[in-house]
Amino acid sequence: MKQLLAIFLLFGTIGATAQVSKKKMLKIADESLAFSVKQYKHMMDSLPPNVLPRTTNAKTGRLETSNTSWWCSGFYPGTLWYLYEFSNDEKVKAEAVRTMELVEKEKNNKGTHDLGFMMYCSWGPQYNMYKDERAKEVLLTSARSLSTRFNPTVGCIKSWDHGKWKFPVIIDNMMNLELLFWATKISGDTSFRHIAVTHANTTIKNHFRPDYSSFHVIDYNPETGAVNEKKTAQGFNDASSWARGQAWGLYGYTVMFRETKSKVYLDQAVHIAEYMLNHPSMPADMIPYWDYNAPEIPNAVRDASAASITASALLELSTYVPKKAAVKYKNAATKMLVSLSSPAYRAKEGQNNNFILMHSTGHKMANSEVDVPLTYADYYYVEALMRYKQMEGKK
Ligand code: GLY
Repeated sequence: MKQLLAIFLLFGTIGATAQVSKKKMLKIADESLAFSVKQYKHMMDSLPPNVLPRTTNAKTGRLETSNTSWWCSGFYPGTLWYLYEFSNDEKVKAEAVRTMELVEKEKNNKGTHDLGFMMYCSWGPQYNMYKDERAKEVLLTSARSLSTRFNPTVGCIKSWDHGKWKFPVIIDNMMNLELLFWATKISGDTSFRHIAVTHANTTIKNHFRPDYSSFHVIDYNPETGAVNEKKTAQGFNDASSWARGQAWGLYGYTVMFRETKSKVYLDQAVHIAEYMLNHPSMPADMIPYWDYNAPEIPNAVRDASAASITASALLELSTYVPKKAAVKYKNAATKMLVSLSSPAYRAKEGQNNNFILMHSTGHKMANSEVDVPLTYADYYYVEALMRYKQMEGKK
């Protein structure tokens, strides 16, 4: 009862979409992070050994887990690292280390482009906090494995080995470049950075439409580098804007600017942000529908993961742009975080299979992971809350 009252006092007077003050947002961030620590402690107490949390099974309502080769295996340890940074709770750290160790063997996985997500989210914090040699070795090996998927003729890292494609590259792949920048900084080997920059430049050339929305999949000819097809895999159709894809692009080009200081990437990130924030399908609570062109809007399911990723990216982007845009992006991110932190999206303690957020969508067209919790929605939500606090000097 006490908890319900606290939630009402926090949200009841401000509504889900109204702009909140810095003081109120900091209070929401602290309360939400404290909640997330409690929720993830329930998660760690209920998680079977040697697996990672993935989602809720839509049929059984039970927790669905994954092995370490699933693209999301790094998000649970990564979320725990952020929650440890917030709480200094040793139980949280122990679980981060335990599950990071589970993921370690994926450093040699050359069959996926997702090593940035898997390895940098899980082992990156270990290296960045403690500078230990083992984490360095794990991450450099991961960067080398990822680099084997780069084709200089195409100018991209190959995303998938499965499917009907010859050399598919998905917009999501922008998220794996941060690991390569890290690898060049640590090793002095500029080939990693070269791959990241080339991939980002090829993606700017081929993945975006004139309005700065992006295709999901570009299939290249691996011998000539020519574009075979511009398609979707998880969006509504080839011409639509799959919500999470737009979020990955925004986040990816924001990181590109952070790492290179090249204005081309900043402009790209700003254009993507403007596309999303001005889109007539963006709901009042700023939690995107699963696709900006979903025909069932306004009855379409939402994707809280797209909102978490977008909020985190907009907060960082707001630090690189002139004042007027900075205020706009920070306000938009804040609105998203207020909505996500409200009872409409944030679970109650001990419910939602102990995930933090509800209402994400993995692959609507395949009827897979529709309107469920997803481990990466939690990760980017917690990251965004930590970023907000850091930006306001309250780390
Ligand atoms: N990278 C896969 C997804 O966003 O669903």
